[in-house]
Amino acid sequence: MRNKYAILVICIVALVIIEKENNIISRVSEKLTLKQTTQTAEPPSFYNGSSAPVVMDYDGEMSEENATWLLEPDQGGHKHILLLAATRTGSSFVGEFFNQLGSNMFYLFEPLWHVERMLSQDMDIPNATVSSLAYRDVLLSLFLCDFTLLERFISPSPQEHITPALFRRESSMALCEEQVCTPVVKDVFERYHCKTRRCGPLNLTLATMACFSKKYRAIKSVRVRQLETLRLLVEDPRLDIKVIQLVRDPRAILASRMVAFSSKYQTWKSWAINGEVPIEDEEVKRLQGNCHQIRMSAELGLSRPDWLENRYMLVRYEDIARYPMQKAAEMYRFTGIPFTSQAREWILKNTHASEITSGVYSTQKNSSEQVEKWRFSIPFNLVQVVQDVCGPTMELFGYKFADSEQTLVNKSVSLLEEKQFTFS
Ligand SMILES: *[C@@H]1O[C@H](CO)[C@@H](O)[C@H](O)[C@H]1NC(C)=O
Ligand SMILES: *[C@@H]1O[C@H](CO)[C@@H](O)[C@H](O)[C@H]1NC(C)=O
Ligand SMILES: *[C@@H]1O[C@H](CO)[C@@H](O)[C@H](O)[C@H]1NC(C)=O
Ligand SMILES: *[C@@H]1O[C@H](CO)[C@@H](O)[C@H](O)[C@H]1NC(C)=O
Ligand SMILES: *[C@@H]1O[C@H](CO)[C@@H](O)[C@H](O)[C@H]1NC(C)=O
Ligand SMILES: *[C@@H]1O[C@H](CO)[C@@H](O)[C@H](O)[C@H]1NC(C)=O
Repeated sequence: MRNKYAILVICIVALVIIEKENNIISRVSEKLTLKQTTQTAEPPSFYNGSSAPVVMDYDGEMSEENATWLLEPDQGGHKHILLLAATRTGSSFVGEFFNQLGSNMFYLFEPLWHVERMLSQDMDIPNATVSSLAYRDVLLSLFLCDFTLLERFISPSPQEHITPALFRRESSMALCEEQVCTPVVKDVFERYHCKTRRCGPLNLTLATMACFSKKYRAIKSVRVRQLETLRLLVEDPRLDIKVIQLVRDPRAILASRMVAFSSKYQTWKSWAINGEVPIEDEEVKRLQGNCHQIRMSAELGLSRPDWLENRYMLVRYEDIARYPMQKAAEMYRFTGIPFTSQAREWILKNTHASEITSGVYSTQKNSSEQVEKWRFSIPFNLVQVVQDVCGPTMELFGYKFADSEQTLVNKSVSLLEEKQFTFS
């Protein structure tokens, strides 16, 4: 462990020297550097002396180098799930598979939203290296039930660990439980208020206590770009982490984004109408970059390096849509967390999947049709662009090319290859 920290510290020092002039690192690290002395509130009694396990320090010093508890392996049989995805891949839905587990789960929906937002305010172009370090450290501290690092990215800043602004609090069952629910405060606007009961602003100390009381912790994120950047997190002896990467046909993602984020996709829409797509355009390059990163992460995971052994699973959106119960069961088996009847019921109710008494799960009716709906909403010229720049990614995941407009809209041709991704 010490070596790992030492290497990291050296890297940080190097970055600091490089970046001294333009101040980027120092601004970020102001937020990242956590020192015991800056802690204001007394931790609750069972909150065992933890400040955030921050490994990044602007001064290149490990402020808590000799705190041995930092490195003690987790004794409580806790399990940690990180659901990694891109937007429009059904990740909110899959996140619910875990959120709905019941009283043993502490689930967080996109906590890195705060980090991304603050970093992009601080820098004109967020630096991917800096962002990925911040993402990793925030994820680590959250998996350890420590919100203090995340607090630095929440805007406006929480006061005495109280905030009305935690992104999508209501999407986390654990953050709306009775124990975490404080009395409603008049005249405080809460954009992300609980739906199940009326609660006041979130007391993060209560959230911490709730987190500690749960055996399983899950976080969903669409912000981590490269699996590789999470290596230190995965290797951290205090966590027993499983990473689930969720992927989807990039043609379907584009079709879905053009509807969901309509204003951001004006360029694509104009291309859809004009027919001509300038292949050198920034938008096309961005698509290519996204596909590349997703493939890099998947190839790394599927290559089963030692540090990811038994810790990585790849799941296709299309398979979840067609066989939700079966896929959910597979994911639960992979994580080692018991698949509760509560979670099953939620899935049944929300997918119309039918459960056959033998324990074999049937598919959703007419589901392949649902899954391939995008084929009728995106013009062939855009499909061609995606196939051109995302080809290797599509091949890896088993998404077949459409060679003509006729094929694209021909319902008797499937563009989805049946494919098993083997693990462990
Ligand atoms: C706090 O941690 C120490 C060292 O790991 C342990 O001996 C002690 O029992 C813990 N206290 C609580 C309340 O968990
Ligand atoms: C940790 O280091 C500090 C300063 O170097 C020292 O004062 C303190 O006693 C050390 N704590 C332990 C537990 O070794
Ligand atoms: C991000 O920051 C690192 C370290 O400061 C630097 O080496 C790298 O070139 C930066 N990347 C971009 C895209 O600015
Ligand atoms: C938040 O909850 C903790 C634990 O119950 C409590 O000690 C603290 O006073 C609360 N904070 C505020 C500002 O009410
Ligand atoms: C699927 O939908 C089509 C119409 O879109 C219908 O004719 C067919 O019977 C449906 N199949 C099943 C298995 O429900
Ligand atoms: C659709 O595909 C099937 C199978 O390849 C083919 O037999 C059929 O002629 C195609 N239909 C059209 C309208 O192209």
